[in-house]
Amino acid sequence: MRILFTGGSGKAGRHVVPYLINAGHRVLNVDKVPLEADGVDNRIADITDAGQMYDVMASYAGFDEMLPGTGVPKFDAVVHFAAVPRMLLTSDNECYRVNTIGTYNVIDAALKMGVRKIVFASSETTYGICFADGELKPDYLPVDEEHPTVPMDSYAMSKVVNEATARSFQRRSGADIYGLRINNVIEPHEYEANFPAYMENPELRLRNIFAYIDARDLGQMVNRCLKTDGLGYEIFNVSNDDHSVKETSQELHAKFYDGVPLADDHGSHDTFYSNAKARRLLGFQPEHSWRNYLSP
Ligand SMILES: NC(=O)c1ccc[n+]([C@@H]2O[C@H](COP(=O)([O-])OP(=O)(O)OC[C@H]3O[C@@H](n4cnc5c(N)ncnc54)[C@H](O)[C@@H]3O)[C@@H](O)[C@H]2O)c1
Repeated sequence: MRILFTGGSGKAGRHVVPYLINAGHRVLNVDKVPLEADGVDNRIADITDAGQMYDVMASYAGFDEMLPGTGVPKFDAVVHFAAVPRMLLTSDNECYRVNTIGTYNVIDAALKMGVRKIVFASSETTYGICFADGELKPDYLPVDEEHPTVPMDSYAMSKVVNEATARSFQRRSGADIYGLRINNVIEPHEYEANFPAYMENPELRLRNIFAYIDARDLGQMVNRCLKTDGLGYEIFNVSNDDHSVKETSQELHAKFYDGVPLADDHGSHDTFYSNAKARRLLGFQPEHSWRNYLSP
């Protein structure tokens, strides 16, 4: 597929874009800074500028596309990752502005330029736990896509708004628009760098509901979304199958989630951030557990 990818130069994109290229796709990365990686075409553009988003949606990915003399090809899909990626980076209102206006512009331009598949990055933070003032417990475990999304911070608020925006655009267009409630993205080098501390102190993972997503498995997830047509509007949790600390789920539950209902059949290392829907509807099968890289 010919894919326009926003935000491909960031932490998640620099793994997901190469994954997609290795899977045979052509990728034009639209970002404020280029991604220096094999096979990637880059375009510098700002998602908050509607004109620039219309322009890039109707753009050559590279010089080679001018050779046939048949004009600018259409994009088969848009993957939208560009964002202010958490609270406390910019002012709250700037984070909200960039993320909401940016997402509106990307989806609007994509649909008006005839794109029929859009995958966008939402976030675990929509569930309100990650950036809560004080400690907030989930209503039940594992957290699935039906769990309420009433966060307190402007970043997560922007993601909840983006989901509503995407849902309305899908209703009007009938295109496939899939939102990914991505959990904490872990790059390969972070297993050695960070996980020993998580083994020492599991509380460090409490705000992520003890879950994580390997950046390469996130690539697989995006690719599965690109391959699976006809779902309309869907939201998916994105996480690895296991949680990110050495304690059993039952020990974690006893220590951190007193009074929170836990599914009876919950396995001893199963994630508290359910990816069952992605497995069921997309065939998602994460391959990179942290346990493959470190011994608990
Ligand atoms: N990293 C995580 O753990 C995590 C978890 C859940 C959701 N997400 C979401 O996944 C996506 C990617 O996250 P990330 O960690 O790679 O973030 P990142 O900040 O590393 O990358 C975001 C990219 O977007 C680009 N960008 C920012 N503003 C832009 C603008 N106005 N116009 C064009 N490009 C712009 C940046 O230059 C950057 O390359 C984001 O939407 C983020 O909210 C990330």
